[in-house]
Amino acid sequence: MDRNSGRQFIEQLIKNISIFKNLSTAHISRVIDSFSFIKVREGDLIFNQSDKSTDFYIVVKGHVRAVLHNEEGHELILAIFGAGDFFGEMSLLDGNPRSAAVVASEDSALAVLKRADFLDLIKKDPMIAVDMLSALVQRLRMTDDMLGSIAFLDVSHRILRLLQQIAKSGCEKDKKTGFYKVEKLKQKELAARTGASREGVAKAMRILAFKGVLLEDEGFFLLSPDIENI
Ligand code: CMP
Repeated sequence: MDRNSGRQFIEQLIKNISIFKNLSTAHISRVIDSFSFIKVREGDLIFNQSDKSTDFYIVVKGHVRAVLHNEEGHELILAIFGAGDFFGEMSLLDGNPRSAAVVASEDSALAVLKRADFLDLIKKDPMIAVDMLSALVQRLRMTDDMLGSIAFLDVSHRILRLLQQIAKSGCEKDKKTGFYKVEKLKQKELAARTGASREGVAKAMRILAFKGVLLEDEGFFLLSPDIENI
């Protein structure tokens, strides 16, 4: 990508981010001048939980995940951010240490904005703060949902619920069975996204396969569309 088309791509990306949707093209152009851009490799720690940094990040390309680690190093995934998503807003807003670690799930490119530049932006355009509140509320709702799952559902149902959410965000159906074809996740990732142990996930997967509601195919999980009464 040459310099010009690279800039156009970033302008378009920023325009599509909910918190910047009201900015004029001229304003977006000025915002981009305040960003620095970094590349990270799969597995890189972008920052750790409790770090005292306050930069704000936007994912330009790739995926990163916000995680909590326990003492044995097991992960609980709080959220996965893809192109156009932002993270690091919590320390930016309250000045406290990072609430979670953020790790690159694949080779990714990120735009980074210093806290002072971001606060400047908000002063010039307070609608950014209003839209950010709405994005934060959405994240809180998703966290409530995860908390409810971990507190009230067994591991099998947490897995079904997670895969159902992924299926709802768009996936094909198997022509023969009508089952959803959901991209396969490793047991380690399923455990990290459902707050379960890997052994717990393995056992739950065997039960679900036995009941015929979640089958494994090459590269896919086949998820029954009829899981409400399981
Ligand atoms: P910050 O605390 O600065 O650094 C860690 C980031 O992870 C945090 O900002 C958010 O961007 C993100 N994060 C932390 N907790 C959650 C959550 N429950 N849902 C979504 N994102 C989160």
